[in-house]
Amino acid sequence: MASTEQDIKRIELADNELWQDGPPYEVFRELRAKCPVHWSERIEQYPTEAGFWSVTMADDVHAVSRDWQTYSSATGGVTVFAEIFPLELVQGMFIGMDPPRHDKVKALFQRGFTPKRIADHEERIRAIVRDVLDRLGDRETCDLVGDVAQPVVSRVIHSFMGTPPEDDALWARICNASMAPDDPDMAPEGIEGVLEKDLPELFARVRKMIADRTEKPTDDLTSVLVHAEVEGEKLNELEIVMGFFLLILAGNDSTKATYCSGMRALMEDPAQMRELVENPSLIPGAVEESLRMFPAFAVMWYVSSNRDESRYEDPDRFDVHRNPEHQAFGAGGRHFCLGTALARLELQIMIEETLARYPEIQLDGAPVAAEALFVNQLKSLPVRLGATSSAA
Ligand code: HEM
Repeated sequence: MASTEQDIKRIELADNELWQDGPPYEVFRELRAKCPVHWSERIEQYPTEAGFWSVTMADDVHAVSRDWQTYSSATGGVTVFAEIFPLELVQGMFIGMDPPRHDKVKALFQRGFTPKRIADHEERIRAIVRDVLDRLGDRETCDLVGDVAQPVVSRVIHSFMGTPPEDDALWARICNASMAPDDPDMAPEGIEGVLEKDLPELFARVRKMIADRTEKPTDDLTSVLVHAEVEGEKLNELEIVMGFFLLILAGNDSTKATYCSGMRALMEDPAQMRELVENPSLIPGAVEESLRMFPAFAVMWYVSSNRDESRYEDPDRFDVHRNPEHQAFGAGGRHFCLGTALARLELQIMIEETLARYPEIQLDGAPVAAEALFVNQLKSLPVRLGATSSAA
């Protein structure tokens, strides 16, 4: 572990070896304590990319998040990869735009994502979760990532987008590869496969959806993108395709990640899990604590700011009673997550239904983290389901 000032300056935060087992929390702790604004010279696996600054304290992340004029999301994109992933594609997503256009495109969706509007979907989401759990039948073991989390979150977001259930696995595969192109399981063909196969497939399929909806509008979000007007003009094809992609990426990835990390923390702490089984009203608190401890994205270093000891006592302890504020959905800036209400509702229902049906669920082997810099997720979480509760 680094300790001198020189050692800390030499840390290359993007080095693969730091991220083998999820985020390097110890390194972030050192940076917060000794070098809260830090420069990394390089990105090991992408030598043509430039270095990058890191801020790691919650107050600094908040300040950067709010100052979009200085810290543009459009100029260099939203990750450190300015060259590998074509910038014009990132700029087609509203996460890669700056105001005023960002605000106008985002506004097309905001009304549909308020807590009140999202609450209308509760029964439908619960039915999706129960259906996925039913499919486990009388299996004794499963992988919570692939067998539960992925099919639930995919069906939920794809039902908003208007794509059919038989395409869920395909979209999930494209999303996983794009979010974790360095992981051999999630992206077997690497970044080349994403750029040369997955993105062309995305464009071809969404073009077809655009044509269908131009002819016959539907009540899904893809149709919103197709028919929306911003400043009197329709979105261009790139913005529609990338708008679609942003929504399925965001919906497929992060809720799955948070559910799995939260379930893992509960299984590693059976006393707290028992508390939730006996008192499900604690589940919303467990959701917030999972969001704090395991933020799914690191667009900025939320994996560090959410464990900032100037904000949290004993920050590495998972505590379902903490009910924390956190930056998992962003730090208060323009790009604050559109899907917070949906994500919270999904997470609550997923944990409720899993614990109601499998109150004795246990780990059944070592969880495996995705090898990815900017997403914080497990790619495998083997569990022993245990006896089914007759109440579920
Ligand atoms: C646990 C689940 C989720 C987490 C942790 C999460 C986290 C985030 C974060 C960190 C950002 C960037 C915020 C910033 O840097 O200011 C973001 C943006 C976004 N999220 Fe989420 N998200 C989640 C679920 C969802 C879901 C289910 C949707 C579905 C629609 C969604 C849609 C979006 C969109 C569209 C943006 C871009 C917003 C903008 O650029 O203005 N998210 N999310």
